[in-house]
Amino acid sequence: MSKKAMPKKAVKQPRPDAAEHTPLKARNVAFDWSATPLHWVPGDPDTSHTINVLHLLLPAGERWFVHVYKQVLPLIRDERLREDVVGFIGQEAVHAQAHDDVLPHLRELGLDPTPYTAQVDWFFEKLLNDRTLPPGKAREWWLMERVALIAAIEHYTAFLGNWVLNAEALDREGADPVMLDLLRWHGAEEVEHRSVAFELFMHVDGSYARRVRTWGLAFSALVFLWQRGTRYFMENDPSLVEGKASFREFLRGGRQGVLPTTGDMLRSIPRYLSREYHPTQEGSTAQAVSYLAGSPAALAAEARTSGGA
Ligand SMILES: [Fe+2]
Ligand SMILES: [Fe+2]
Repeated sequence: MSKKAMPKKAVKQPRPDAAEHTPLKARNVAFDWSATPLHWVPGDPDTSHTINVLHLLLPAGERWFVHVYKQVLPLIRDERLREDVVGFIGQEAVHAQAHDDVLPHLRELGLDPTPYTAQVDWFFEKLLNDRTLPPGKAREWWLMERVALIAAIEHYTAFLGNWVLNAEALDREGADPVMLDLLRWHGAEEVEHRSVAFELFMHVDGSYARRVRTWGLAFSALVFLWQRGTRYFMENDPSLVEGKASFREFLRGGRQGVLPTTGDMLRSIPRYLSREYHPTQEGSTAQAVSYLAGSPAALAAEARTSGGA
C-alpha cells in the first residue's frame, strides 16, 4: 500500500475517555447447544428469531472485518492502535466462529439457514470484497470506504452489546442460559473493543462526509438484512403455522424489554453523527469486564487455555 492512503491533513480527534481503554484478548469460547430450544425465549418465536438473525449476519460480516483490517495494518503508525486492531481481529474471528456454530443446531431443529446465509455471504464476500482495482487512488478509496463502514457497523454492535448486557427482561422471561451467555460474552467484547474501529477510521482517514455517507449505507443495509432474516426465520420455522414477522411484534419486544426499543435506536443516530462522538461515551468497560469475569463460556475458555499452557 502506498503512502497516498495516509491522511493528508490532521482531522480533529474527539476526546476518548482513557479509563475506558482495556487491553484486548480473544477468548477461545465453545458452547454446547444440545439443550437449546428453537424458541430460546420461551413462547416468543418473534424475539428468538429477531435475535437469531445475528447468527446469519455475523459469521460473514465479522470475517469480512478481519479481511479488511489485515489490509489496513500496514497503514497504522501508532503502536497502541496497532495492538488494539490486532486484539480486535482476534476477537472478531472468534465471534464469527461462535455464531457459525449455532447454525448446524438450527438445522437439526428443522430450520435450515443456508438459503439466507448464501445471500449474506454474497453480500460480504462479493459485493463488499476487494475489487479488481488498479493500485492507486481507486483501491485506496475503496479500502477507506470499508474502514468507515466497519466503524459505523461497530457503533451498532456496541449499541447491541450494551443493550444485551442490561436486558434483564431476557432473564425474567426465562431465556436459554447458553444463548444468553453467547450474546452477553459477545456483547461484552463488543463494548470492550468499541473504540477500535472508530479510532482506526479517524487515524487513517477521518473524513466527516465519509462518516455520514457510510453510516447511511451501513444503517440501511442492517435494517434491510435484519428484517429479511427475521422474515426468513419466521416463514421457515417448522413449528409455526404461517409464521410471519411483523413490525408490531418488534415494537412489542421493545416495550417488554426483550428487544431494543425503536426510540433507543433512533437516538443512537445523532450520537454517531455528532462531531464530538467517541465510542467511549457509550456503554461501560467496567460492566463488560465484570460480565466476562463471570461468563461461563469465558471462564471455561480460560481454564482450557491455562490447562493447556
Ligand atoms: Fe463481534
Ligand atoms: Fe466488534
